[in-house]
Amino acid sequence: MTEPAIFPVPVFSTLCNAAFALRREVFVWEQKVPEEEENDSYDLTATHFVAILAGEVVGTLRLIEQPEHVKIGRVAVRQAFRGRGVAKKLIAAAMAHAHANGQNRFYLTAQSDKLEFYERLGFVAFGPEFSDGGMPHRAMRDYDKATARLVD
Ligand SMILES: CC(C)(COP(=O)(O)OP(=O)(O)OC[C@H]1O[C@@H](n2cnc3c(N)ncnc32)[C@H](O)[C@@H]1OP(=O)(O)O)[C@@H](O)C(=O)NCCC(=O)NCCS
Repeated sequence: MTEPAIFPVPVFSTLCNAAFALRREVFVWEQKVPEEEENDSYDLTATHFVAILAGEVVGTLRLIEQPEHVKIGRVAVRQAFRGRGVAKKLIAAAMAHAHANGQNRFYLTAQSDKLEFYERLGFVAFGPEFSDGGMPHRAMRDYDKATARLVD
């Protein structure tokens, strides 16, 4: 398969609008996340990434800088393009971009049925399960892994 082109895009841009449309398609229509929870004020300051194949935005995620780490969120790949490594490459590209800016601690909240997906990328779950967008989630991080496991 052709490799996806992956890069950060400004929030007020055609490509970012396509990413927001993809998020709506995946989270609101497919996963039934309440529409009012899908976009939030973090979107204004986050760094948004897109993955493009055949001229189409087929994947997206956002990075939010927080004092203790960078939060990876809203990871979404269009259904027809799943299982081809798009999400894995998106996350690797976004983390490499953050690394280049001196950031090396990453955090996310994963849908509980996606823990294995993120474990393969080096994340470990910690803390109790909680509900977000109507779905069970766990917090995960890729640093202080030994202590992350201990607080379970
Ligand atoms: C989860 C999602 C982003 C994965 O995207 P994708 O492009 O299909 O994932 P990739 O092809 O890059 O998969 C990377 C690896 O994870 C595995 N994987 C993919 N989805 C998985 C899942 N749901 N559970 C466990 N492993 C999974 C793949 O088999 C692959 O393994 P490999 O590296 O050994 O080959 C995509 O299914 C999606 O958009 N789902 C709906 C939105 C969502 O749930 N987002 C995550 C919220 S926490």
